[in-house]
Amino acid sequence: MAATSTGQETWSGKAAFVFAAVGSAVGLGNLWRFPYAAGENGGGAFVLLYILCIVAIGLPVLAAELFLGRRGGGSAVAAIRRLAEADGRSGAWSLFAWVGMVASFLIVTFYSVIAGWVLYYAWTLIVDLFTSIADQGLAGLTGGAFHGQERAAIEGQLGQLLASPGKMILCHAIFIGLTTWIVSRGVKGGIEAAVTILMPTFFVLLVILSIFAMIQGQAVTALGFLFAPDWSALGERLSDGSILLSAIGQAFFSLSLGSAMMITYGLYLGRDQSIPGSASIVVAADTGVALIAGLAIFPIVFQFGLEPAGGPGLMFGTLPLAFSQMPFGSIFGIAFFLMAFFAALTSSISLLEVATAFADGDVDLDVEEKRRRRVVGAAVLGLVAFLVGCGHALSVVPAEVADTFFNDWHPLGFLPLFEGQTLLDATDGLTTYVLLPFGGLMTAIFAGWVVSRTASREELHFASEAGYRRWRFLVRWVCPLFVGAVLVYGAVVSPW
Ligand code: PHE
Repeated sequence: MAATSTGQETWSGKAAFVFAAVGSAVGLGNLWRFPYAAGENGGGAFVLLYILCIVAIGLPVLAAELFLGRRGGGSAVAAIRRLAEADGRSGAWSLFAWVGMVASFLIVTFYSVIAGWVLYYAWTLIVDLFTSIADQGLAGLTGGAFHGQERAAIEGQLGQLLASPGKMILCHAIFIGLTTWIVSRGVKGGIEAAVTILMPTFFVLLVILSIFAMIQGQAVTALGFLFAPDWSALGERLSDGSILLSAIGQAFFSLSLGSAMMITYGLYLGRDQSIPGSASIVVAADTGVALIAGLAIFPIVFQFGLEPAGGPGLMFGTLPLAFSQMPFGSIFGIAFFLMAFFAALTSSISLLEVATAFADGDVDLDVEEKRRRRVVGAAVLGLVAFLVGCGHALSVVPAEVADTFFNDWHPLGFLPLFEGQTLLDATDGLTTYVLLPFGGLMTAIFAGWVVSRTASREELHFASEAGYRRWRFLVRWVCPLFVGAVLVYGAVVSPW
């Protein structure tokens, strides 16, 4: 246990940190959110803008968050307050870390519901495998999933789940319960142990699935859709700004930025770890997984004539169709959804960790007291997240079903804000398009303009002065200008 005399835990090594940061970044944002955001925004043009945003904005902000956490110490809020005061500025700068903390907490409330859907799919496939073995003996192992079911029934799985609030809430409870338990155990015993095993296995499975999808489905159409931008459509979309907002929002969500999360993981970062190097690995892994997830999903979308702009249900409608066609489909399906569940888990522990690190106090408490506070803090936060998450789950129940379940009471339907949007959609929009870009913008301004040049140069320790200059130019000018413009648009003009 690498606890320092102040009780602050640190990662056990360089690889452990990289796994944890990749584990946080790679999750439902890549598998569930990226494909539907790309689908809704016309494919190639969005992918291109997304990659530009990742390189010019995501990477420098990620490096900034990590160094701010490591240099400040304590919790994300304490770190920013200390750094501001060290430079003779007001401690009120820490407000943006507060906003990030609220954002990460709001995200975990709906993230857990979607992760619950993933768990339900894994469970359905397990049941399906057992029924086919019972019907066909060992031959049942080799065939596709959902044997004997019509295509419409396979695609309609999500609809059935949404109409069962009880099942949804149970799966959400299991997921948030596991998250809380791991976070309460702390950085090494919990977070590290979980991520080092889960992330590599997940990656291998995803690659196998995408190869299969490309062989069986419409690989060429999918590649064209994802990688050949339609320039005229891009011009049109850029003029209304929403595509840039989606790309920047997705970049922040996927890299876990603007939520004080990477500041928090930076707290536990050893002095010998290279921040530019680790940040590049995290960005490469996260973007690679998003693109591979696109290659697993879009060949199937085109093969079955589904709608690429299918929205949040995209992954849940397409992948089961792939598994129904694949040899050993149930086994692959079970493995894939279980791994997606674990990828989501490594992200949600990072989300809950932000507020827990705050609750577990400042650096000068002793180890025992910190541990006690952490357990209580995680438990309370986990419980509140569970309750808010129930609101999300109930808000996606179709109205006809809700009427019978809740005696004509459709949760929150009476509030004008939620007209046409579920609580889940509204929270996803608020966090991704407003709170995370705000956090990212403030991080860039703080790291580029407030923290001294000596501090950032020393902390980032770039291999070359040119690398440092490039970073500084991006955080001082490019990020504030682009993210600021997009944020005004997101908050004022766009209804998400
Ligand atoms: N990056 C995570 C994902 O892609 C989600 C996340 C957002 C995690 C913000 C932490 C903070 O699934």
